[in-house]
Amino acid sequence: MKYDILINKNNKIPKDLKFDITEIYTKYNPHKKFYLEKKAYKHFLKLKKEALKLGYDIEIESSFRTHDYQKKLFEELVESKGYEYSIKYIAKPYTSEHETGLAIDICVFKDNEYVIEHDLESLDEIKWLHKNAYKYGFILRYPKDKIDITGYNYEPWHFRYVGKKLAKYLYINNLTLEEYHMNKK
Ligand code: DAL
Ligand code: ZN
Repeated sequence: MKYDILINKNNKIPKDLKFDITEIYTKYNPHKKFYLEKKAYKHFLKLKKEALKLGYDIEIESSFRTHDYQKKLFEELVESKGYEYSIKYIAKPYTSEHETGLAIDICVFKDNEYVIEHDLESLDEIKWLHKNAYKYGFILRYPKDKIDITGYNYEPWHFRYVGKKLAKYLYINNLTLEEYHMNKK
């Protein structure tokens, strides 16, 4: 599997892409089945362990999504917030990294409840993650200062597994996956 694969509004998931998906456990919702690409999960567990040493209780709120589920999420958001808002936050089916199993949405367990999405922004836990996730192969995929490049608004919760070497390169050079692929050409 190519961990540097670019999936976005202009780059759909290739039909022949093989996923090595495994069932995972998240205490965010122990009653629902969650799946993630195997290597991404292995490294997430290491990241989680490191975070816990600092008292930061991070969990997975969303991971692998089927195309049908991505479609459902897209349609639900359009229904509640309208199309213009939705396309800045959620990918249409076949264009979401979640459909590859390489993306995770993080939540933080704090003061006996889960903090998710926009409410995460000011938390020390998420600030720490933004600075340290690359050491475990993850990048913050939709940063605040790259909205025009990624095509999505700031998502402090969405991380993408790309492997350690590339994650470090992107972090140090402040590059998105789009910029990396553009420079490669
Ligand atoms: N929220 C991101 C863009 C997704 O739906 O994959
Ligand atoms: Zn996400």
